Amino acid sequence: MTTRNLFLLPGDGIGPEAMAEVRKIIAYMNEEMAAGFTTDEGLVGGAAYDAHGAAISEADMVKALSADAVLFGAVGGPKWDDVAYEVRPEAGLLRLRKDLELFANLRPAICYPALANASSLKPELVEGLDILIVRELTGGVYFGEPKTITDLGNGQKRAIDTQVYDTYEIERISSVAFELARTRQNRVCSMEKRNVMKSGVLWNQVVTETHKAKFADVKLEHMLADAGGMQLVRAPKQFDVIVTDNLFGDMLSDVAAMLTGSLGMLPSASLGAPDAKTGKRKALYEPVHGSAPDIAGQGIANPIAMIASFAMCLRYSFNMIAEADRLEKAIANVLDKGIRTGDIMADGCRKVGTTEMGEAILTEFKTLSA
Ligand code: IPM
Ligand code: MG
Repeated sequence: MTTRNLFLLPGDGIGPEAMAEVRKIIAYMNEEMAAGFTTDEGLVGGAAYDAHGAAISEADMVKALSADAVLFGAVGGPKWDDVAYEVRPEAGLLRLRKDLELFANLRPAICYPALANASSLKPELVEGLDILIVRELTGGVYFGEPKTITDLGNGQKRAIDTQVYDTYEIERISSVAFELARTRQNRVCSMEKRNVMKSGVLWNQVVTETHKAKFADVKLEHMLADAGGMQLVRAPKQFDVIVTDNLFGDMLSDVAAMLTGSLGMLPSASLGAPDAKTGKRKALYEPVHGSAPDIAGQGIANPIAMIASFAMCLRYSFNMIAEADRLEKAIANVLDKGIRTGDIMADGCRKVGTTEMGEAILTEFKTLSA
């Protein structure tokens, strides 16, 4: 029987509550579909800091590196606001991205028909929205050196972050975007700030050359990232795939997330390059929402983004396309039935907590799988 090794890192805040719902789906798939998932679990973020004084332990890094896929909840919270910068909760996530070389971050923003009214934009602007943000995840200003704060000795300090991109980094992320576009509407919009930044000039050139050399059949457009942000809230349905750097991608994906009604809805996949021998990619799946410390532990968090992240895991790590489709359909059906967590609650709907939402999706998934 195939074994599929999952490493679970629930993390902090609502992470563990959301992960608990995914665990039920994994158990069901093992029992009823002989899916062969094995799970191991570790600590990340504040939880790891409390236990080991680090944002992730070396032992858990080894497990993450050897797993077929990592499922990640969320990290951070006010409890750890004052810990040293090097061991802050976010450092665990950044180390995983860097050490696993997860350079391609896929952030789909899909507006479920049932949720068009939950968006802060007019429903007609977001109904049927289906865009995919492809964010570069291991380069740019997140990791560029120098990254320092220096005392200038005259009562002033100087902070430096470095935005840096090499050709190969832009080539590989834009290739991922073009390849994915071919499976969708075949359109890519690349966003940078070539009017101000040298890295934007190179980004624009390399995307253009990669397109010409290998992906001329895909429609390519370039947009300045600030104008892109504006267009995302003006007319979001004009986009199919957006490819952009680490920092712009961080911001633009939060904007795109909110178009869909709630940050609690959006999954993501972070993928590495295919292994030369096995063809397998290292991968980490995580909801875009954070740890939401304000509602943690109350059983009211929306588990949909975490469950949808597991659907992406089925699709991209295990090629279980039919199962992924069914799980995504189960989410849509549950929303159609008017079942809602507090963050997406609307008139006439039934408000439920995390467990009930998770169970409703599992029940629907069972029905669709029968
Ligand atoms: C994200 C988050 C992270 C980021 C934080 C938690 C480090 O905002 O995944 O979008 O900035 O990349
Ligand atoms: Mg972010």
